[in-house]
Amino acid sequence: MADYEPLILAFCCHYCAYAAADLAGSMRLQYPNNVRVLKLPCTGKLEVNFILAAFERGVDGVFVAGCLEGGCHFLEGNLRARRRVERAKVLLSEIGLEPERVEMFNLSSAQGPRFAEIVNEMTTRLTELGPSPFRPPRGAEEGVREMTIQAEANLINTTSECR
Ligand code: FES
Repeated sequence: MADYEPLILAFCCHYCAYAAADLAGSMRLQYPNNVRVLKLPCTGKLEVNFILAAFERGVDGVFVAGCLEGGCHFLEGNLRARRRVERAKVLLSEIGLEPERVEMFNLSSAQGPRFAEIVNEMTTRLTELGPSPFRPPRGAEEGVREMTIQAEANLINTTSECR
């Protein structure tokens, strides 16, 4: 597909990855603008079905970015998230989607350049894989926006149950 540009949803923890994304913006680092960031209090709040819901809404890839291992503000949230990402990879394969469409990363709040690198890395990977077969011809962007608003309003924007 000639004009294909992957749409990526990034689940970022408030303390590290989201701050790194912010820093990348303040540093005016160049990275593709095809990533939509959904802030979580901790990646431990992530559930496998949030990842599946994103694909259902038509994103081409998802990444989860949490604090460095050993640095999670809720102790083991990022380790739990990694296990859930692994589980999501298995489920994606079962429904015929490449497991490489979802990935987990760890970074500190000072790693703005690393955040930009991750977006570039995922964009290259997803460009090579091509569009998700679940991507609607139109409206994926709208679905992601809706999911973000819904999440922020009531789904995952609490600090409870991060573990
Ligand atoms: Fe960042 Fe838990 S607080 S991953």
